[in-house]
Amino acid sequence: MVQLTLPKNSKLSKGKDWPKTGSGTRMKTFKVYRFDPADGQGPRWDTYQLDLDECGPMVLDALLKIKNEVDPSLSFRRSCREGVCGSCAMNIGGRNTLACTKGIDEVGGASITISPLPHMPVVRDLVPDLSQFYAQYAEIQPWLQTSEAEPGKEHTQSVEDRDKLNGLYECILCASCSTSCPSYWWNGDRYLGPAALLQAYRWLVDSRDESTNERLDRLEDPFKLYRCHTIMNCTNVCPKGLNPAKAIAEVKKMMVERA
Ligand code: SF4
Ligand code: FES
Repeated sequence: MVQLTLPKNSKLSKGKDWPKTGSGTRMKTFKVYRFDPADGQGPRWDTYQLDLDECGPMVLDALLKIKNEVDPSLSFRRSCREGVCGSCAMNIGGRNTLACTKGIDEVGGASITISPLPHMPVVRDLVPDLSQFYAQYAEIQPWLQTSEAEPGKEHTQSVEDRDKLNGLYECILCASCSTSCPSYWWNGDRYLGPAALLQAYRWLVDSRDESTNERLDRLEDPFKLYRCHTIMNCTNVCPKGLNPAKAIAEVKKMMVERA
């Protein structure tokens, strides 16, 4: 049988057990992925124990408590703390989600495992390199393309046309969906992934946009769009309750209808 093994610098080793904070009856263990490219050591799992009676209710509160009171070297992204900026997306208890809207009590098990969004290069600790993800977003040209817009004048659309953008405009580009998609794991350099494709559909159905055909032309490619195999992980994990799989299906339908 073929023996597969990870490169040396990708193997996760056991890291440090940090001293407990508090000694109450609601102690919780957090197992956190740590990686510092400068130390040449490879990634490791560090363990922290927090007293939940002295910690806010969200996973992000726990990470902030660790950083502020236990281990200032822990790195992660966050900004809004209310599920709007998308920067705190990570894998919590085996599922991609937002640390600021995920309650500690919502994650089952004796300990909570926290790692960066999967299958992305890691800059440090819980910070993934999203350069490719943003380049793919730029590739779908996420702006209104019209010859009608006049500076300073409102460019209106009907209530019905505006309704078509519901379930699309709310995307916060957290990357939870794309990084939970096996097709994106294996072909992330060529398949645009659910987030970029949901955004592509958002502009395709905008009644004010005049570049529908050009937008579809750019997606007409065996990899960019058609690597979606309706696995549905994207829709299952989206922390905003959106449905990227449906948006992708709608883009495919538009392709067929214009053929
Ligand atoms: S569709 Fe949902 S999971 Fe995907 S980037 Fe947008 S908000 Fe995040
Ligand atoms: S900190 Fe902005 S979405 Fe979590």
